[in-house]
Amino acid sequence: MTQQRIGKKTVRDIDVTNKKVLLRADLNVPLENGAVTDDTRIRESIPTIRYLLEHGAAGVVVCSHLGRPKGRDEALSLAPVAGRLANILNREVLFAEDCVGEQAAAAVGAMPRGSILLLENLRFHPAEEANDPAFARELASFADVFVNDAFGSAHRAHASTEGVTHYLPSVAGLLMEKEVQYLSALVADPPKPFAAVIGGAKVSTKISAIEHLLPKLDMLFLGGGMANTFFVANGVDVRMSLVEAEQVAVARRILEDAKARHVQVFLPVDVVAATAFAVDAESTVVKPADVPRGYMILDIGPATVKLYARELRKAKAVIWNGPMGVFEMENFSHGSTGIAREIASLQAATVVGGGETAAVVAMTGLEKQFTHVSTGGGASLEMLEGRELPGVAALLDS
Ligand code: 3PG
Repeated sequence: MTQQRIGKKTVRDIDVTNKKVLLRADLNVPLENGAVTDDTRIRESIPTIRYLLEHGAAGVVVCSHLGRPKGRDEALSLAPVAGRLANILNREVLFAEDCVGEQAAAAVGAMPRGSILLLENLRFHPAEEANDPAFARELASFADVFVNDAFGSAHRAHASTEGVTHYLPSVAGLLMEKEVQYLSALVADPPKPFAAVIGGAKVSTKISAIEHLLPKLDMLFLGGGMANTFFVANGVDVRMSLVEAEQVAVARRILEDAKARHVQVFLPVDVVAATAFAVDAESTVVKPADVPRGYMILDIGPATVKLYARELRKAKAVIWNGPMGVFEMENFSHGSTGIAREIASLQAATVVGGGETAAVVAMTGLEKQFTHVSTGGGASLEMLEGRELPGVAALLDS
């Protein structure tokens, strides 16, 4: 897959020697009892931090949000993330217990040359999400340049992603560049045949992406709860399954549009249907039209994995967004992990949307077998919808 220039300046286009850098990273990682349970986003932020220090930056002031706190919330402190960052880098990472105010200013002022300082969770201040100019200006006052490497937050126009760019020269980090390159190249000029595998619970969240991709696609594979609405559009009774009744007409329109564009659409040929949304529910594998009364569809079945695998082998490029079932429950995870293994084995450009789909890939341990696994859930979906991300748009043009 040919990588495109992203049309924005990156860290490689500026001289950071002796400059203090404000680096927005997406360190929004899952925590359990104060410990980081998946450090992918931290590890993906390392190349830019290393690059800045190796190129003589006077210091790197890292900022990020974590979770969705309403005001200060110690359970969502970035302190454990500072610890993990230090472990991975094998060097000291300083930590400031606030991201603005006297404490933060003092911590930034006391930074030894070439050091790294992580500021506390930006979202402890509502001003961050409100994109408050005074808050953005204060963050900007800590540095000479701004580097945005937080692809996962690039769809948010917040103070640390958009606001600061009004006060500092602003460029993309290496992760941001890589993400935008892969996702935009795939949508703009995909190797053909081009296939999309789209799943997830609700069709309403995927319609814009499907509609945007359809003119470029040769094959569309559907799964997850959203496929139920397509079954209903085809006149199938899915019994107790999740269906978005108000989206049935949209599903029908997508099927018609796909037909008119000669895009082959694949729907599951068998499903795992269960009596309840529970790990110990009674379940059976049946054709979608044969779901027993009182059962609901919670995964695609083995024949579907086989069929999708066979057809996907024809593709030269595959984009995958959305799990095929309730992958968080072991009994309904096999469709998703099966599809992950099959896509991983393809001789094709394979790009995976972040969030839940990346979590499925992580369950199989096959991340390295994909061309690119995005660190951004909402952000990668918005790119597939063809939308401009405010965090990218605000950076200097190249
Ligand atoms: C994500 O996890 O998708 C990003 O970190 C953005 O988080 P948000 O949806 O809370 O803005």
